[in-house]
Amino acid sequence: MEKILDVRAMAPKERHPKIFGTFKDLAPGEYFILVNDHEPRPLLYQFQNEHDGEFEWWPLEQGPTAWRVAIARRKTNDPKRTLTDYMQSDHMRLDRIFNRFQEAVKEKRWDDASGDFREFSLGLRRHISAEEDILFPVFEEKTGMRESGPTFVMRMEHKDIKELLDSIRASTDGKDPSGVSDASYRIANTLADHNMKEEHILYPESDAFMSEAERAQVIKKAQTL
Ligand SMILES: [Fe+2]
Ligand SMILES: [Fe+2]
Repeated sequence: MEKILDVRAMAPKERHPKIFGTFKDLAPGEYFILVNDHEPRPLLYQFQNEHDGEFEWWPLEQGPTAWRVAIARRKTNDPKRTLTDYMQSDHMRLDRIFNRFQEAVKEKRWDDASGDFREFSLGLRRHISAEEDILFPVFEEKTGMRESGPTFVMRMEHKDIKELLDSIRASTDGKDPSGVSDASYRIANTLADHNMKEEHILYPESDAFMSEAERAQVIKKAQTL
């Protein structure tokens, strides 16, 4: 069973102690889903200040009426984590959500499918934005490679990925299993190849030329998206 902590009915001053209490009770690798009625930005900053390197912050829904975030306790408590570790964890997490989505489509549970797809799409778009707006500019600045480098290729592939997301969305809304499975097959193939290139080339290279402080900065910024 998923642990869910819905703080919407709690008095504001009770919320943070309850949230940090729930986090402290998590075993390594466990997570809970926080449900709130506003963007929990101050909470994220408090986590970054008080639990640096100990937690994952993965938004699942960002308004307009509810905000949901999966907050996990990392298996290893290490503030000096690499970008490869952070970004790869997100790839794996997104793969799991996508599998859940495909399972729901197969069983024609369209409401579940639609919810799973919203989480997947939000997560993947945030991930792409962490790359294009935060990580790639640093990579391009440090290497001087723009038009001819790996980030150029990755940006092109992101365009294809986003188009496939739109197409899966449309087929899911239309409850069209063959449309979903066709586009799902294509996005899964595209992502497998794309993620592999990032995990084996782009992320490790970024780790190699960025300082520990720069890496931490990129991760903190990515969490605020
Ligand atoms: Fe990417
Ligand atoms: Fe990626």
